[in-house]
Amino acid sequence: IATLKEDLKRLHPEISFTSQNAEMQRAVGLARQVAASESVVLLRGPSGTGKTVLARAIHGWSRRAGKPFATISCPTLSPELLESELFGHVKGAFTGALRDNAGRVAACDGGTLFLDEIGDLPFSLQPKLLRFIQDREYERVGDQHTRKADVRIITATNADLDQAVKEGRFREDLFYRLNVIQIDLPPLADRPDDVQSLANEMLVFFGAQNHKAFRGFSNKAMDALRSYAWPGNIRELRNAVERAAILCPADLVEIEHLPASIAPHIPPVQLGNPVSLEVIEENHIRRVIASTRSLQEAADILGIDQATLWRKRKQYGI
Ligand SMILES: Nc1ncnc2c1ncn2[C@@H]1O[C@H](COP(=O)(O)OP(=O)(O)O)[C@@H](O)[C@H]1O
Ligand SMILES: [Mg+2]
Repeated sequence: IATLKEDLKRLHPEISFTSQNAEMQRAVGLARQVAASESVVLLRGPSGTGKTVLARAIHGWSRRAGKPFATISCPTLSPELLESELFGHVKGAFTGALRDNAGRVAACDGGTLFLDEIGDLPFSLQPKLLRFIQDREYERVGDQHTRKADVRIITATNADLDQAVKEGRFREDLFYRLNVIQIDLPPLADRPDDVQSLANEMLVFFGAQNHKAFRGFSNKAMDALRSYAWPGNIRELRNAVERAAILCPADLVEIEHLPASIAPHIPPVQLGNPVSLEVIEENHIRRVIASTRSLQEAADILGIDQATLWRKRKQYGI
């Protein structure tokens, strides 16, 4: 288990909940407070803001920490499969049910079940979940026997559940039952100071993974990170930093090593402008490096070998 933990640490950057943003501080404070209770929790926020990470953390901070934590993503399964995944089924309950299956609720008895994208929970399953939350009772698909399990439910949504209730897609009684404690995670664009610290921490991590020790980001690169809108939130930031750690050959990440969508446009030098060949060459090399995944790929596109590309980068300070 110790080596497994080591492996996990090597695969995932350290999760950090320290934040300069008041809304994020409130969210994490609330999460720590409710962790000790048995209450249902609803996590709300756009994709990539850390809902799954926080759900896991709440489990880890709770008395249930030593017990199982399981995730079910509601939209990934058909209503029938979702019911059997949640509550289990007995042999012969439907075509393909070759043997009994206890279901996730039974598997995480004593622990926590995280239901992601709860807004997509099929209407037919909603009363069954409500009953389970209220009475801890359920039946396997195809079975009359009522079972009990002690499972804490955490849910998440990036959609407007109130709207789903208004449109009749989500039961009001279940909505109120899930909505006891709601925690809102702010979009990353509202947290520029956190972008800076998260990016630096991730760079150390992905540097170590790639056997490099980075000094950090250049001012220009950090300005670009801080001012970008991050539609994919922390997930997108993580991917951008991982990419930079792989592409950046020196110990300071420059704007060229960020995805083109993040780096503000390098002022275009048009062919035919009154500039020297060198300016054209530098511009072209920078753009090709910024748009490729490796220096080898860039060299291939430019039609030069890696050693020549290395000399040119040194010449232009790329
Ligand atoms: N507090 C955090 N510290 C470091 N990385 C984080 C943090 N929160 C999220 N991440 C990173 O962002 C990714 C997306 O987070 P996730 O919880 O899956 O978002 P969501 O469930 O809201 O879509 C995670 O894989 C993780 O790498
Ligand atoms: Mg998630």
